[in-house]
Amino acid sequence: MKTIIAPSLLACDFLNIESELKHFEGQDDFWFHLDIMDGHFVPNLTFGHPIISLINKKTTIPLDAHLMVSNPEFYIDTFSDLGIHNLTWHYEASIENTLSLIEKAKKNYSSVGISIKPKTKIESVSLEILKNIDLLLIMSVEPGFGGQKFIEETYSRIKFFKGLREKHSLSFQIQIDGGVKDSNAKELLEAGADNLVAGSYVFSANEGEYINKVNSLRL
Ligand code: DX5
Ligand code: ZN
Repeated sequence: MKTIIAPSLLACDFLNIESELKHFEGQDDFWFHLDIMDGHFVPNLTFGHPIISLINKKTTIPLDAHLMVSNPEFYIDTFSDLGIHNLTWHYEASIENTLSLIEKAKKNYSSVGISIKPKTKIESVSLEILKNIDLLLIMSVEPGFGGQKFIEETYSRIKFFKGLREKHSLSFQIQIDGGVKDSNAKELLEAGADNLVAGSYVFSANEGEYINKVNSLRL
């Protein structure tokens, strides 16, 4: 599996989003990560349909939407016309009906993901779910804010799911989100991650350095 790097636009210059996007055109194995927060599942509030629609018109890079919302079903329905490549929502927001929502989402998105917060028990994600998703997002910070400190327990959580993926010959990507930077990327990839989200690490650089920052996260 190739490593995908997905800068989180939460950390970009929102007033100049079009020029921010342009710095990355032509990148391979590369997604834009969109953090959708509803002010309820997480305390913070970000952006939704109108902004994503504008972003979608300005880039050909695959869009990766990370829903931090209490009612994922509403967003699975209403985001289906936005050209989103991967749609991920939180397992904690859907527990009982996760499988039926996955089935529903698969009709409209080429890739469907489930995310778990740092304190969610890894054993609570059933094999049936793992068999049906394209991506598992293991949060390495509590969702809600960019720029937080990476949680070290993430490595063992990655290894657990990598083990299950191998044992059952499954193919879901393992994505990591929160506090990712050059000093932990190698260890994350070696533990079994194949998709790294990075917000402040990429966008805190001068714009001429963005691509170097992205490449510094690859093995
Ligand atoms: C946190 C978001 C992350 C965040 C990453 O709730 O899901 O995507 O923007 O930001 P950094 O890389 O700055 O930790
Ligand atoms: Zn995110």
